[in-house]
Amino acid sequence: MSRLRVAVLASGRGSNLEALIEARDRGHLAIEIALVASDRPAARALAVAREAAIATHALEPGAFQDRAAFDRALFGDVARVQPDLIVCAGYMRLISADVVGAWLGRMINIHPSLLPAYPGLRTHARALADRAAEHGASVHFVTADLDAGPVIAQVRIPIAASDTPERLAARLLPFEHRLLVATVGLFAARRVAMAGRTVLIDGRARERPLELAADGSLA
Ligand code: GRF
Repeated sequence: MSRLRVAVLASGRGSNLEALIEARDRGHLAIEIALVASDRPAARALAVAREAAIATHALEPGAFQDRAAFDRALFGDVARVQPDLIVCAGYMRLISADVVGAWLGRMINIHPSLLPAYPGLRTHARALADRAAEHGASVHFVTADLDAGPVIAQVRIPIAASDTPERLAARLLPFEHRLLVATVGLFAARRVAMAGRTVLIDGRARERPLELAADGSLA
């Protein structure tokens, strides 16, 4: 099986990108990261990519007339590397519907909540304000609706009495990394597909998202 060609979109810190690179380097993930693209030229994620000798590309949204023009340019550059999969890993921009449509089933996002709970921003603070018993992260297919595409896999952690939004985010982050690596691993093994709003694993429809187990596997 050929290595999955991946393009990563990131706007910030790039710790999820680092997790993918590390898993690849350890031989745990049969991917080639063809490009890291960003809407923020100063994003740490781009420095992480350069350090790992991965091609990078950044465009300033302010230099374009509107969202559609920016997306056409950025995703045109992404398309040029012919990725099998686009991974949004902390990519903080909404993506226009026509571009999403072109990559349907081939673009995923990691989101720090147990979707469908808490789409959008400030997920940790909102879970705490609701006195939720647990929190987590989801990897989902990107569709035109924000954080509302079919969920492939999730990881859940209990909320502690001592959690603040910052502490909860920091405790969740390593689990996010494992979740993203394991989910991209399913794509690398060509085991995941999207059919309408349904996630197919090994060709079979899933009723619920896969869950990350303590040993890092998905079941
Ligand atoms: C992560 O919490 C991810 O779930 C969210 O944005 C954050 C990105 O972190 N979408 P990093 O840039 O990968 O470190």
